Amino acid sequence: MVTSGPRVAPVDLRSDTVTKPSPGMREAMARAEVGDDVYGEDPTVNRLQERVADLLGQEAALFVASGTMANQIALGVLTRPGDEVICDEGAHPVHFEGGAMSALWGIQPRTLRGERGLLDPAQVEAAVRPPSEHFPRSRVLEIENTHNRGGGTVYPVDRVRALADVARRLGLDLYLDGARLLNACVAAGVPARAYAEGATLASLCLSKGLGAPAGSLLAGPRDLVREARRLRKRLGGAMRQAGVLAAAGLWALDRNVERLAEDHENARALAGALGALPGCLVPHPVETNIVFAAFPGRSAVDLASRFREAGVLCNPEGSRPDVVRFVTHLDVSRADVLEAAGRVARALGA
Ligand SMILES: Cc1ncc(COP(=O)(O)O)c(C=O)c1O
Repeated sequence: MVTSGPRVAPVDLRSDTVTKPSPGMREAMARAEVGDDVYGEDPTVNRLQERVADLLGQEAALFVASGTMANQIALGVLTRPGDEVICDEGAHPVHFEGGAMSALWGIQPRTLRGERGLLDPAQVEAAVRPPSEHFPRSRVLEIENTHNRGGGTVYPVDRVRALADVARRLGLDLYLDGARLLNACVAAGVPARAYAEGATLASLCLSKGLGAPAGSLLAGPRDLVREARRLRKRLGGAMRQAGVLAAAGLWALDRNVERLAEDHENARALAGALGALPGCLVPHPVETNIVFAAFPGRSAVDLASRFREAGVLCNPEGSRPDVVRFVTHLDVSRADVLEAAGRVARALGA
């Protein structure tokens, strides 16, 4: 059977990963000075690494292929087989990294139920296991800022500091998955280094709200970044003239950070329009660029396909059967998100 696609140009709100490099970014990529990064000779990669290390207040940083690779290298560097990683139950490595934590490093997650993904220091303290040959060794506390499955939630910086204190006191390393860290910074008015200061390792992704085609950075002390380099090689992630990609990252860091506020405003506008529809509920205030819309009694999977037919691409949220997720980004305007809300309304017969 031939199925017909949407009749109108779709508004793509599946993720902030769908952005395409702009003409200016492509030009910067084409002009990039490059070298063999496995020899440490790519000047553009080196510049990006220094820039992000400085941004995160860390000694060094390593350019890696993806947010998943940054997460897995961080966990690999900080653990030994049999160790346990304390994290929220919705953490990215728990759900969306193909079981890499156990497959690659022989470690296990100890999942806690955070408040929309955000952990509380007392809750973490209670979960750290006492030393005993019976128990796995609690080794790493992993937090995500913003929290994807929490709905783009932002950690208050004091909470991150308190979590870092608990981790340090109990002998754990803190790993900050900062795939959308700059969204948190722009929303909270907090510099990235303030969020990263208590973390042993922290990451930042270039291919989400920043709009680059690929790449993440993992930052931390020089000796751990050296070890991260070894694991990157082991995973087959050591690229050669990667400056072509790094140039896109530098271009994005120069131009696409402050504008994340527009994505957040567009997300709030979308949430306002959706929340006004009969049968739709936006259960939480929108903090950044992710909107969860609940349709009580209806199937998110069915709705997402109905919305697709109407010209709005979005995804079922995944942890609740009636929640659809919409994500704003660089390639959608205020007019686009309002158009999307209108299409959703028509698809619902509202
Ligand atoms: C919080 C978080 N961490 C890590 C990742 C992984 O990034 P990538 O898709 O580049 O592997 C994502 C992807 O959406 C994410 O949301």
